Amino acid sequence: MQVSTRAEAFDRWIRGPFVELNTELEEQYFRQADHAQVEGIGDSLKATLRDEGHVHIVGLLKEGNTGDGFRSAFNVLGNVGLYLAALRRHELTNPAREERSPFPEASSLALHVGASLGMAPRFATSHLATHNQAIDGVRKSFTSLRDELLFIDENTRGILALQTAADALTRIVHLGVTNPAADVLFATAKRALEDVLQFNQRLFEQLDVQRFFYCVRPYYKPYRVGRLEYRGANAGDFSGINELDLLLGLCRANDPYYTNLLVDKMSFMLPADQARLRECMTFTSLLDELLGSLEHAGSGWFRANALAFLEVCDLFGQYAAQHHDGLVKRFIEDPAAGLSKSAQQGLTASGPPLPVLLRSLEVLRDMRMAAPRADMPSRHEDLQRLRFALRPV
Ligand code: HEM
Repeated sequence: MQVSTRAEAFDRWIRGPFVELNTELEEQYFRQADHAQVEGIGDSLKATLRDEGHVHIVGLLKEGNTGDGFRSAFNVLGNVGLYLAALRRHELTNPAREERSPFPEASSLALHVGASLGMAPRFATSHLATHNQAIDGVRKSFTSLRDELLFIDENTRGILALQTAADALTRIVHLGVTNPAADVLFATAKRALEDVLQFNQRLFEQLDVQRFFYCVRPYYKPYRVGRLEYRGANAGDFSGINELDLLLGLCRANDPYYTNLLVDKMSFMLPADQARLRECMTFTSLLDELLGSLEHAGSGWFRANALAFLEVCDLFGQYAAQHHDGLVKRFIEDPAAGLSKSAQQGLTASGPPLPVLLRSLEVLRDMRMAAPRADMPSRHEDLQRLRFALRPV
């Protein structure tokens, strides 16, 4: 059998029986009075999922060469990752009770392909979002539940729009922030951020809290590959969001808190995104460029672009508040509050206990909003200086 044929057969299984088995299991769990009850339910479906996937994986592993071009290798990595994430979701593996993954073949395949691509050996957000190739209108997912598809689609739209905004700001770096032609790029960034606000609002209104919490989110838990535990994917695993942070100047690459976060997420990004982020870390932020020519604040050429810059910052701050105070609160914090302490374990994609994760997400929100906080690096005062210099006289 050719490399591509085995990889294609696995892909067909992931897009077909895998989705049907997960969907049926979700329906069975959700019918229980305790929606969080997974153990002892649908055991034969779980065994089918585990064993059918295993046959594909053993075939691919024997073949030894999964690197039939980036696209094919990336796709195999995503498919093994979806398989392992589903086994984690159905409690066929749980990093808290194991020292190594009970699925050595899947681990070997994921490690081999992941290392050859320069990515973490698990599925990443790009597998289900920006690089989730649809066949006849159907993109990959764990289940065919309406709420999972809504979540995937709106996440993808949000990521695409944030990438558009980041692209536009990156082009400004090469023009200089006071270049008159930068006006079209600021306008593109503004439109793109307004789009993100709209997509997130739609998600907020249309996603069912219970379905998301009990049937979608559990596929994003950490799991072991070989000996090591890898955190789950989240919609932030693309470089565009951090390019916006750095280009606007709201977060800085010499801030150890922020840069730890960048280093942690590098391997969850596509190699092309990793390269973009590295390059972006070498640029001077637009805010610092503007502050550097503040003595010209009275000139028309400074004013127009500086005002456009501030509008982009405001929209970005609104996005950050909406993500944290809207989406995270409604779909994770509130439903988690009703769970016991032990059920709260393993709730988050990155692994730390929920209150710890929430605090770190709060810090990010406040950096992006340039909040007046003295206990963390915030550009509040710098933005105030800029606003003050631009006040109508
Ligand atoms: C139901 C909707 C959503 C919920 C409940 C949610 C929740 C979360 C949580 C809990 C994290 C932290 C991940 C972890 O370590 O466990 C996170 C990270 C992140 N999410 Fe979301 N999210 C949602 C949708 C989105 C969307 C649509 C976007 C982009 C348009 C997005 C962008 C991000 C980003 C950029 C991060 C990384 C942290 C950061 O840089 O802010 N999220 N999200």
